Amino acid sequence: MHICSHSNDVRQRVAMWQGEGLSVGLVPTMGYLHRGHASLIEAAARENDRVVVSIFVNPLQFGATEDLASYPRDLSRDTEVCRQGGASLIFNPSPDELYPEGFCSYVNMEGGPSLGLCGASRPGHFRGVCTVVAKLLHLVQPHRAYFGQKDAQQLAVIRRMVLDLNLPTAIVGCPIVREPDGLALSSRNSYLSAEERRAALCIYEGLLAGKSLVEAGEAGTEAVLRAVSTRIEAEPLARIDYLALVDPLDMRPVQTLNEPALCATAVYIGTTRLIDNLLLKS
Ligand code: PAF
Repeated sequence: MHICSHSNDVRQRVAMWQGEGLSVGLVPTMGYLHRGHASLIEAAARENDRVVVSIFVNPLQFGATEDLASYPRDLSRDTEVCRQGGASLIFNPSPDELYPEGFCSYVNMEGGPSLGLCGASRPGHFRGVCTVVAKLLHLVQPHRAYFGQKDAQQLAVIRRMVLDLNLPTAIVGCPIVREPDGLALSSRNSYLSAEERRAALCIYEGLLAGKSLVEAGEAGTEAVLRAVSTRIEAEPLARIDYLALVDPLDMRPVQTLNEPALCATAVYIGTTRLIDNLLLKS
């Protein structure tokens, strides 16, 4: 497995593989890899001859008051996760490599799935995500790229961007990986104290409360949202940033639950903002 920090090195290696007729999968990440990322790398390794994992904490997708400086980093542990998952190449560029002096070209989604949810509560976030993912797709030119469904809105935004910009890469969504008690894996879970870690369980339990209600025949969105928020708000350390029932493909709010809907939420546990979602269907 190779580690490259320069775009030209990545291009050359991928061109060599593609010249040999090998398929390439890309797993874009911000590092501090956990079992959720490992599942993406493993899926990519099953479905492609070569796997590139990018590790880059993308400054463009963080707001001015967000956690860019404290975002956890551990390249040597990440290298081991990539090796075990079957990656062939890690691309670990510096910010200057991707955003050189004078950089001023961005990919900005102005509607569709980027509206609402994280698009509303983190202005500029999806502009940063789309810009970096478009750059990575151009650089690596993978046959397939892998993203987790925990970031369901991000996945919908990337699918839309790839369609809108006629990019040839197939976008593959992979299931959320959870701790045994249900907490969705996230690099930001490392910020939680023991007390906050216990409190964070309210997010999944809230989503499950909504799921049970829908499965029992409730089709009213208000009743379902109330069941979810009641469970989350029963936890004193939790504060809901957003909670919504949306169409799983275009992320627009749904008015009834006659069709499957995604219950998506962002919740502050102390100062840590966590996102999660669950598909609800009767
Ligand atoms: O999901 C992430 O880790 C990031 O948003 C991504 C897709 C790697 C872009 O920086």
